[in-house]
Amino acid sequence: MTNNRKTPIEISADEFRNIGYQLIDSISNFIDTIEEKRVTTGESSKQLQKIIGTSSLPENGTSVKELLSKTSELLFNHSLLNGHPKFLGYITSSAAPIGALADLLAATVNPNVGAQILSPVATEIEKQTVKWLAEFIGVSPGYGGILVSGGNMANFTAFLAARTAKAPKNIKEDGISNASAKLVIYCSKTTHTWIEKAAILFGLGTKSIRWIQTDATNKMDNEILEQAIKNDLKNGCKPIMVVGTAGDVSTGVVDNLKAIASICKTYDLWFHVDGAYGIPAAVIPKLKTLFEGIENADSIALDPHKWLYSPLEAGCTLVKNPNHLIETYSSHPVYYNFSNKDEALTQNYYEYGFQNSRGFRALKVWLTLQQVGRSGYIKMIGEDIQLSKLLFHLAKKHPELEAITQNLSITTLRYVPFSYDHDGEKNETYLNTLNEALLNELQYGGEVFLSNAMVMEKYCLRGCIVNFRTSKKDIEEIIEIIVREGKKMHQKLQKK
Ligand SMILES: Cc1ncc(COP(=O)(O)O)c(C=O)c1O
Repeated sequence: MTNNRKTPIEISADEFRNIGYQLIDSISNFIDTIEEKRVTTGESSKQLQKIIGTSSLPENGTSVKELLSKTSELLFNHSLLNGHPKFLGYITSSAAPIGALADLLAATVNPNVGAQILSPVATEIEKQTVKWLAEFIGVSPGYGGILVSGGNMANFTAFLAARTAKAPKNIKEDGISNASAKLVIYCSKTTHTWIEKAAILFGLGTKSIRWIQTDATNKMDNEILEQAIKNDLKNGCKPIMVVGTAGDVSTGVVDNLKAIASICKTYDLWFHVDGAYGIPAAVIPKLKTLFEGIENADSIALDPHKWLYSPLEAGCTLVKNPNHLIETYSSHPVYYNFSNKDEALTQNYYEYGFQNSRGFRALKVWLTLQQVGRSGYIKMIGEDIQLSKLLFHLAKKHPELEAITQNLSITTLRYVPFSYDHDGEKNETYLNTLNEALLNELQYGGEVFLSNAMVMEKYCLRGCIVNFRTSKKDIEEIIEIIVREGKKMHQKLQKK
């Protein structure tokens, strides 16, 4: 550097190189030994506050070398490790290691992917990433879209586009309260909680949500859906959208998307698919039919930080006609000079979503898609599904476990004590108490991390495998751990 300005933030090239090498060494070692660690230390907030200390904002600086070496130790030894092979909780994947390198690279160049002029090549990379994601799930590469922080944001981004497209045209100026008819939306009762947030945030209110019952297979009951639309029309409401779920958060069930698409066509409604979890499974040729109808979706939410193994945060909204995003989000303040000399080709991402200044989250997704390729994803996603089936199968065979559901890569099961009297309502209540206590024990124990689901009033342990590090041996050991801890918890509760 020839610049002779001295600042407390700059790091010399030599120092950056030395510290960077050390950091990469310790990260490599961490990844290499992750399976020997506990999934979590189960430490309390109080214990962790003690470790990081309670001092006030530092007045003077500290050396970068010291900070990074201490902080890597802190994070490696006191975090919940969702990259651990026995982490099957919620829907967070093990993160692709190339994603960590991509984030370092992205932060170094630091393009602002809000406007094309501020991020010329990064914008092109994001456009290509979006196009590849559309190809990945088997819809037309003509879908446009944007990378966002995750599933909630991907669904919100689409929701607002649907509102703009289907609500009365004056809504942007006059607001919802001046709409002549009550706007209503439809989704299955298993839809993720984002829908309630969206209804609140975008002015429709939670009473605008029609929670449609599910059928025996846990899919949205499309006859009830159609009847609900007819009733609303008769009562003077204005239906605007239907949400189909492609992999519900609790049990992984995919709605009958083809039938929903047809209902949306009949009643001129926006068809949104929440594929945040499950839609990447559409890459597997044998599963293609499960997702039939997706190609008619007006918008799709998918989440690279779930089943495409991207590090957090990476979600994506795809929209069949990207002009709907521009109509919803574009603005042209005088202080923006973002039109390009090649006007027709300019794509400014600030016109596609909520953010103006935007980071380069596409890079990690773009690089991972290239590292792995379609065939690599078919292999990993296919194996995750097989492992989930194995978990279900082993639970079914075990006399102290009850296998409840298995769809995509989600299995639900519960511990049922040996020679337990299976009849009676009271026993169901006890089994729910027992399995909830067991889940809490497992989550803090550090051997395995599962989450929970309520299925047909049964409190279940839920394993969701979006984890390329999980193996057959892990699944066999997880079964042993659940049974061992289940027995202990049953004895403990019996003594009370
Ligand atoms: C079906 C579905 N939609 C939306 C979300 C929300 O995603 P995020 O947590 O990335 O906001 C989830 C999360 O698990 C999900 O499973």
